[in-house]
Amino acid sequence: MARTQALYVCRACGGEALKWQGQCAHCKQWDSLEAVTASRRPREHGGSAAAAVALDEGTAAGAGMARLSFGMTELDRVFGGGLVGGSATLLGGEPGIGKSTLLLQVAAALARQHPIVYASGEESVAQIGLRARRLGLASAQLALVSEHSLDAILALALERQPALLVIDSIQTMQLAATESAAGSAAQLRECTAALVRHAKTGGAAVMIVGHVTKDGSIAGPKLLEHLVDTVLYFESDAGSRYRLLRATKNRFGPVNELGFFAMGETGLREVRNPSAIFLSRRPEPVAGSVVMVARDGGRALLIEVQALVDRGAAGAPRRVAQGVDANRLSMLLAILNRHADLSLVEHDVFVNLVGGIEITETATDLPLCLALASSLRGRALQASAVAFGELGLTGEVRPVAHGEERLRELAKLGYQRVILPRENVPRAAPAGLELQPVATIGEALAAAFGAR
Ligand code: TYD
Ligand code: MG
Repeated sequence: MARTQALYVCRACGGEALKWQGQCAHCKQWDSLEAVTASRRPREHGGSAAAAVALDEGTAAGAGMARLSFGMTELDRVFGGGLVGGSATLLGGEPGIGKSTLLLQVAAALARQHPIVYASGEESVAQIGLRARRLGLASAQLALVSEHSLDAILALALERQPALLVIDSIQTMQLAATESAAGSAAQLRECTAALVRHAKTGGAAVMIVGHVTKDGSIAGPKLLEHLVDTVLYFESDAGSRYRLLRATKNRFGPVNELGFFAMGETGLREVRNPSAIFLSRRPEPVAGSVVMVARDGGRALLIEVQALVDRGAAGAPRRVAQGVDANRLSMLLAILNRHADLSLVEHDVFVNLVGGIEITETATDLPLCLALASSLRGRALQASAVAFGELGLTGEVRPVAHGEERLRELAKLGYQRVILPRENVPRAAPAGLELQPVATIGEALAAAFGAR
C-alpha cells in the first residue's frame, strides 16, 4: 500500500521538502513552507506506453506552429515573434502597473480574428467593460468572465476553444480539489499547473497575471516561473508613464528582450523608438549634458546623461544620483579628482538620466565624468560627441561589451562623433562615424573639450 506522504513547498522559491521546517532549505526563507495536497504527486504508471515521434516529425510540427501577431511590434518582439499557440505565459508586475490594461488590449486585438476568453477574479464584468470602453476596445469575439473558480473557467475554455485564455490574476483563482485559500502556495501551483495542462492539451495559449510586490517576494510569480514557458515582467519607475516589458524566460524566443510602452489616457501605446524618450532634443549642445549609448535588455539605447555641479552652501556637499548608483558616482568623483585634476569636493553634485531610466552597466562611467566636467567648466562637448566606456580606479578607460552594436546604433541615428575606449574600436567603423579612441580619463577630457 502506498503511504500518503505530505509534501511542503516554499512560497518564495517553490522548493520542496518532505517535512515541515521553519526555514526553507533551498532559499533560506523563514516560515515559507506550506503543505500541498496529494493530487500533485506523480501518479503511478498505467500499462500503456507513451507516444513518441521522430525528431524530423517534431521539427516539421514545430515549423507549422503558428504565431499570432499582437499587432504591436514591441510586444511581438518580446514574445520572440508573436504568441505561440499552446504556450503558457506568466506576466508579473506590481499592482497598478498596467498588467490588466495590457492584457485587455492584447485580448481585444487578437479577438478581431480569434475567439478569446478573458477571465478576471479581480474585477466585475461591468468594470472590465468600462475599462474596455475607455480604451476604445470593442469585440464580439472577446468573452469576459468574472470568476474565482478555475474549474468553471477551464470548463468554459473547453467549450469555447479560445485561441487565448487570459487569467487575471492567478492570486485570485481557486481549484475546488485543492483545499486551501486562493493565493496560497498550493493554490498557485495547482492552478498554474492546471492552466499549463490546458494549454498543452487544448492548444489554447494561456496568459497568467501574477502580482509581485516591490521586493518581488510575495507568494506568486517566483514560485511559478518554472511551470510556464515564458515569464514577462512589467516594470516602470515610480511616477513615470513609460513601461518596460522584459522577458526573463522564454522557451520560444530570446530572453532579456525588452519592449517599451507608454501609459496614456487610452491605455498602453508601444514606443517604437525608445531612444527618443531618453534624449531631450535640443538644437544646440549645452553644458552638463552628454549623450551616451547604453545597452539594456538586448538592445542599444541612446540616453542623455545630465550633470549639475554647483558650489554648495557651507557644510557637507550634496551628492544626488538619479538612475545611476550613488556609490559609483562617489568613485567617479574620486577618479576625476585624482587623475584629471578636477576637484568637486566642495561642490554639490547632481546627476540624472533623462526619462527616468535606470542603468546599472559601467559604460555610463565615461559619459558621466564628461558631463560633470562639462558642467563644471560651463562648456558643452565639442561637436556634440557621444561617449561610452568604463573607468578604472587608476584613471584608465576600459572597454565594455557590445561595442560594435553601440556604434551601429549611433550611426543609425545619425550621430557623427564618438569618444570610446581604445579597445572598443572595431576593425571597420560604421560609415559616417568619426571615432575618438581614448585610454585614460585625461585623454577623454582632451578629446571632449579640445586641448587646454
Ligand atoms: P491596471 O492595468 O489596472 O494595473 P494592474 O492590472 O497591473 O494592477 O492599471 C491601472 C493603472 O493604469 C491605473 O493607475 C490607471 C492607469 N491607466 C491609465 O493611465 N490609462 C488607461 O487607459 C488605463 C486603462 C489605466
Ligand atoms: Mg489588474
